[in-house]
Amino acid sequence: MKKQPDFIRVRNISKHFGDFVAVDNIDLDIGQGELFSILGGSGCGKTTLLRMLAGFETPTNGTIEIDGVDITNLPPYERPVNMMFQSYAIFPHMDVEKNIAYGLVKDGVDKAEIAERVDAAIRLVKLDRFRRRKPDQLSGGQRQRVALARALIKRPKVLLLDEPLAALDKKLREYTQFELMNIQDNLGITFVVVTHDQEEAMTLSSRIAVMEEGRFLQVGEPKEIYEYPNSRFVADFIGTINTFEGTVKAVNGETIMISCDDVPIPVKARSGDRVTVGQSVCIALRPEKIFLSVEKPEDAEAMSMPAVVDDLGYLGNRSLYRIRLANDRIIQVSRQNQRRSAKRFVEWGDSVWVSWQPDSTVVIVGKD
Ligand SMILES: Nc1ncnc2c1ncn2[C@@H]1O[C@H](COP(=O)(O)OP(=O)(O)OP(=O)(O)O)[C@@H](O)[C@H]1O
Ligand SMILES: [Mg+2]
Repeated sequence: MKKQPDFIRVRNISKHFGDFVAVDNIDLDIGQGELFSILGGSGCGKTTLLRMLAGFETPTNGTIEIDGVDITNLPPYERPVNMMFQSYAIFPHMDVEKNIAYGLVKDGVDKAEIAERVDAAIRLVKLDRFRRRKPDQLSGGQRQRVALARALIKRPKVLLLDEPLAALDKKLREYTQFELMNIQDNLGITFVVVTHDQEEAMTLSSRIAVMEEGRFLQVGEPKEIYEYPNSRFVADFIGTINTFEGTVKAVNGETIMISCDDVPIPVKARSGDRVTVGQSVCIALRPEKIFLSVEKPEDAEAMSMPAVVDDLGYLGNRSLYRIRLANDRIIQVSRQNQRRSAKRFVEWGDSVWVSWQPDSTVVIVGKD
């Protein structure tokens, strides 16, 4: 079966609450079988957008199509969509089995079929041993899986998940992330997942939309969003990043030279034809793309400058450094710890060299 690239097709969708614009004219195409994440801070409109896809909120403007059918004016129960809510309400008086069966019972599906589908769903989320337990006899992660099974059992074409893992601790969350990806892979259902956790979005998604104040700032694959953020907001939102304001001084084919007030040396980047001499830009450097060395690096392509270790923190598999440049500006650098060694590579107050490659300089053009 050929997968449709615009299985979900949203056009010009907005939601106004009185004067307040919660979702502001969004266009969105999601492919069949994608795991699409919507990422953004609290109050940016994620739940509202999902509720419009599910049919619990009527758009002020715009249209929604799924699988070629305009569903904008259909009630929730006529849409090929199921939603797992932010506070996944499972019924406290029903055991796991009854909770999962609920949607099918309500639809009047016959008993034998319900039993069969409940079995399959319970196996899928690995709750075999807990079928007769009530929610208060389950852990947070198990309850979350009940909610997931309940949403999956109706075999929707599209499953909307609003902060599905928010209630779990870090370890269980990582485990459940992979489970979710497996389930999604096996069933081929299209997932739209809302989260405000950028690491989760990076791990789970085929693509991510970064949302702010009702709009999408950037939509792309995780790597694209991480490596080529199109705005300061996106760069800052996804991971840690060092940013500097600058002006383009020279453009030479792919290579450009930028002068930044906060960086004591000229900054080289590859940016092709996106910029012109004199233009204001922002440059951004990921902490893991900056190298520390005791000696001045010999690589002629790399930019390098002397600096001092201001602070450092050991995080198990890597160390984080706060490095003070000659102009007193602090930057963050991270370094993978390859060897288990009691001896540190550098200490507080040590003189070091920081360096990075032109390819690692992210150039952000334009607003924000
Ligand atoms: N029924 C409503 N009436 C008025 N304003 C609303 C209503 N529902 C949501 N809003 C507002 O719309 C904005 C977006 O809300 P929404 O619930 O979509 O945010 P969110 O991105 O899901 O945030 P969170 O991460 O905190 O869940 C918020 O400022 C919220 O206060
Ligand atoms: Mg929300």
